[in-house]
Amino acid sequence: MTTATATDINVPLLDLKAQYATIRAEVEPVVREVMESQYFIGGPKVEELEKLTAQYCRAKHAIGCANGSDAIVLALQALDVGPGDEVIIPTFTFFSTAGSVHRLGARPVFVDIDPVTYNICPKSVEEAFGCCKKVKAIMPVHLFGQSADMDAVMSIAKARDLKVIEDCAQAIGTEDAHGRRVGTVGHIGTYSFFPSKNLGGFGDGGVMCTNDDAASARLKRLRNHGMEPKYFHHEIGMNSRLDALQAAVLSIKLRHLDNWSATRQRNAAWYDRFFAAAGATDNRTAVDAGGLALRTPAAAPKGARHIYNQYCVRVPGAIRDKVREELTARKIGTEIYYPLSLHQQKCFEFLGYRPGVFPHAERAAKEVIALPIYPELSEVQLRHVAETLVDTVRKLA
Ligand SMILES: Cc1ncc(COP(=O)(O)O)c(C=O)c1O
Repeated sequence: MTTATATDINVPLLDLKAQYATIRAEVEPVVREVMESQYFIGGPKVEELEKLTAQYCRAKHAIGCANGSDAIVLALQALDVGPGDEVIIPTFTFFSTAGSVHRLGARPVFVDIDPVTYNICPKSVEEAFGCCKKVKAIMPVHLFGQSADMDAVMSIAKARDLKVIEDCAQAIGTEDAHGRRVGTVGHIGTYSFFPSKNLGGFGDGGVMCTNDDAASARLKRLRNHGMEPKYFHHEIGMNSRLDALQAAVLSIKLRHLDNWSATRQRNAAWYDRFFAAAGATDNRTAVDAGGLALRTPAAAPKGARHIYNQYCVRVPGAIRDKVREELTARKIGTEIYYPLSLHQQKCFEFLGYRPGVFPHAERAAKEVIALPIYPELSEVQLRHVAETLVDTVRKLA
């Protein structure tokens, strides 16, 4: 028998083939069933998934749609956000959060993040009202799988009578410090079933959750051209339906979600211990403040549930890209979520944000690096990632 040497070990950022191997026997029959039924759009499989998702997210209603980006557009539209309105969003997030606002003719108002959680900074939200007079909604993002500070967001929203849409694309099953599952604390929660999410389909998909009956009815109509009944259109919606094949696969995968998220938490705890033993501290301390120049995610508050869609560490901005190159050379997959904040993107230049205006987000964009955290990682793989990263930081910093 031969043992693996470090040069044999390959650790992709995500290994969906390894996951598929564990669920093939459950998934293939339901896919065949959909093919035999030839019922592809909507129908019983979609309704079943909606019921299961509502239960899982502890929401009264769940409405499937084509992807997580459409889910945001539909949610904004269902809450009457349109031309002339402003929507406050964190600048450090995936593009859709802002793109969706713009697509409705509204204006994204960017705010800074909390440097520890990477989530929306309530103080920065308060500051935004100094110049923005037409704010209709706030859209916190539960980035990387950790809840934003929903107490603060909801109290600001309540004081100003604003709607709250929670972008839960990376956070299905995430809970805040009170044990509230994200997506139902605000008015509508939006989710993505993109394959890299903790619950990912075999293609695109999304869902919106709400406890509000009227919003639910409107979302159902809006995702299907504003039509109800057939060929009677109340308003202009879009074609954003979830298909039965995705729903069938997702219903199976949902059975495994808690187990996968728990394994991601275990992997995160393993990295935390390894990096702490090597001299790293968590990111409550700046990466240039001494010790090993590596910062791990700070523990989620007591009572909260972080589902680790991503495990992002920080290294000094001056070496981050070199660290990544070295890990790539050692067959370790990483990603930068995100190399630029949204206010720095070319397409949003017209909004007029100056460089340096959101220092926490701009700094995070230079320092973060996401490591493999998927549930099927073996301890050999975890160790290879962790040892290689520590060696590389020691060499370069
Ligand atoms: C924070 C966030 N919002 C929205 C989306 C959009 O989801 P989708 O890719 O399904 O459109 C994503 C997906 O990457 C995301 O990470």
